[in-house]
Amino acid sequence: MGILDRFSLAGRTALVTGGARGIGRSLAEALAEAGANVAVLDVNIALAESTAQDIQKLGVDVLALALDVTDAARVSKVVEQVHAHWGRLDIAINSAGIARRSPSEQIEEAEWDAILDVNLKGVFLCSQAEGRVMLAQGSGSIINVASMSGQIVNRPQQHAHYNASKAGVVQVTRTLAAEWASRGVRVNSISPGHTNTPMTAHASAVDRATWVSNTPMERLGEPADLQGAAIYLASDASSYVTGHDLVVDGGYTLW
Ligand SMILES: NC(=O)c1ccc[n+]([C@@H]2O[C@H](COP(=O)([O-])OP(=O)(O)OC[C@H]3O[C@@H](n4cnc5c(N)ncnc54)[C@H](O)[C@@H]3O)[C@@H](O)[C@H]2O)c1
Repeated sequence: MGILDRFSLAGRTALVTGGARGIGRSLAEALAEAGANVAVLDVNIALAESTAQDIQKLGVDVLALALDVTDAARVSKVVEQVHAHWGRLDIAINSAGIARRSPSEQIEEAEWDAILDVNLKGVFLCSQAEGRVMLAQGSGSIINVASMSGQIVNRPQQHAHYNASKAGVVQVTRTLAAEWASRGVRVNSISPGHTNTPMTAHASAVDRATWVSNTPMERLGEPADLQGAAIYLASDASSYVTGHDLVVDGGYTLW
């Protein structure tokens, strides 16, 4: 098989959590462009449905389903629904995530729990449900969206809970990769740098200037900058890669 064919996802089936907007949407579009049928899963079902309608125009089969990644029973049910719809699940991208800012001395327990629930427990619950399906079929690729904040302390924003949750995502990814490697299921993560999405849209001009000046490429990322990494990790082009955290940050973590 030629190298470009090994990047093709024609006939594969995929799901993307947090797929309604931002990075998740961009990765769902990329999967569809590469030929995969895609389920867009999001807590915001109205937006997931409108995103799904747009992606369907790329000529693949698309589903939109409501999912709160912190709800274990719902996670199992929705992953089973996707599996039942297409008869298999080849690719799962777990992108749902939230961010809050607070100096550590002011973080309240409820805020800590909310961030860890969505960003870390949610990734584990989704990976677990997706992994069960993929282990039974003997193949699959799971891609968790972590962050460069799992490796470095981002600035000027202060968010210990977010940083901790993303470091956790990287280590959960490595752990699942080791456990499932011999059974055909690969688990990797992508760690974006500062990326222009609705999550970062509220950032002040000062914050943005700080981020740009700390980035060797002197610009913020765009969601499309992450598409190549996702297609690589989803496809047979990365068939010997597991437990890897692929940083896509314009060089931010070099300094
Ligand atoms: N934007 C950045 O600079 C950046 C950088 C590094 C990592 N990330 C990570 O990338 C991922 C996507 O971020 P984004 O910038 O696209 O954010 P975003 O806010 O634009 O999109 C996040 C999506 O996740 C959904 N979501 C939130 N909570 C959910 C839940 N409990 N269950 C299901 N869906 C839920 C939202 O409805 C939304 O559609 C996140 O995990 C984020 O931490 C973002």
